[in-house]
Amino acid sequence: MSTQKITPTRKDKIKRGESRPDRMKRNQEVGDKYQRDHPEYCRNRMRKLRAEELRKEWGTEVGQMWQCGEHRVICGDCTDPAVVQRVMGGEKATIAFTSPPYAEQRKAHYGGINADKYVEWWDGVQSSVRSILYDQGCFFVNIKEHCDNGERHLYVSDLLTTMKRKWNWLFVDELIWFKPGIPGGWDNRFRDRFERIFHFSISKKIKFNPLSVGTESDKTFTYSSKNKLANAGDNVQLFEAANGEKKGTARPGNVIEIGANQEKLGQAVMFPLGLPTFFIKAYSDQSDIILDPFLGSGTTMIACENLGRKCRGCEIDPGYIGVILQRYKDTFKVEPVLIE
Ligand SMILES: C[S@@+](CC[C@H](N)C(=O)[O-])C[C@H]1O[C@@H](n2cnc3c(N)ncnc32)[C@H](O)[C@@H]1O
Repeated sequence: MSTQKITPTRKDKIKRGESRPDRMKRNQEVGDKYQRDHPEYCRNRMRKLRAEELRKEWGTEVGQMWQCGEHRVICGDCTDPAVVQRVMGGEKATIAFTSPPYAEQRKAHYGGINADKYVEWWDGVQSSVRSILYDQGCFFVNIKEHCDNGERHLYVSDLLTTMKRKWNWLFVDELIWFKPGIPGGWDNRFRDRFERIFHFSISKKIKFNPLSVGTESDKTFTYSSKNKLANAGDNVQLFEAANGEKKGTARPGNVIEIGANQEKLGQAVMFPLGLPTFFIKAYSDQSDIILDPFLGSGTTMIACENLGRKCRGCEIDPGYIGVILQRYKDTFKVEPVLIE
């Protein structure tokens, strides 16, 4: 008989006389209860572990550049224009589409930028993007401010104003991403069911293919500034009186309904594939170059491959670079290659 002494840990205490199957069952129950009591922590921990595992498998490091089919991704800081210019390789992007890290969020993952310093930090992002965007290009930013002490923080409003007033971007529009889901809420407000996507451009003339994201309808009309129906808004009488309606493709409005992502990857805050897909289709053509400066798990790259565009991405965390490479390989059965 073995005389080896086992020191029970706090998590895995061996009760005297307890059989091995009973102990395993009890440990399982303790684990299940912990997951029920701390679901967000457990999910994030699993994702972080997965990203760390993939970082080791792919040997990813800051400074590397990878080729995934027609797409490229660099591991580096997108607030440095030299990093973004390196991944662009002298080419220009038709659009930049991204969801940056929100202020004060995910501190364990990527530091969490202080809300009061966010606009200052953003200067690097906007100048990197501007340096590689076509004059007729667009920059889409999906961001939502958090609540602090029972009220919304204003750093996103400050960002918007500074983009226009200080950095001279045109503020073309604000689109709403409506998220259907389970109701919930806080003490003094309802649950978030939408996020905003801010649309900036350099010049008024941009690429715009609105019917590429349209739907079939019996009540379409010619979209032109000369057609009063096109600008009728909610004027129902005008619609009813008009006889210019025809069957065809109708433009959507600027509220887009897209459900949450169901994929379980190593990234905590992925947006659904439908989100970049909508904007890439509406604001670029086949073979155009799309930049995502905060690529995360590579959703924009997947959308680009599906739509025949070329993605250029930047991601600071080598673990997430591993997630991007694995996701690309699993989805398209193409092996990513380290190029620099
Ligand atoms: C909100 S997530 C993007 C998620 C992405 N849209 C997706 O679907 O997976 C933001 C990402 O930006 C990365 N990041 C944070 N700071 C960065 C920086 N300065 N340069 C490049 N990437 C950065 C984070 O590691 C994180 O993966």
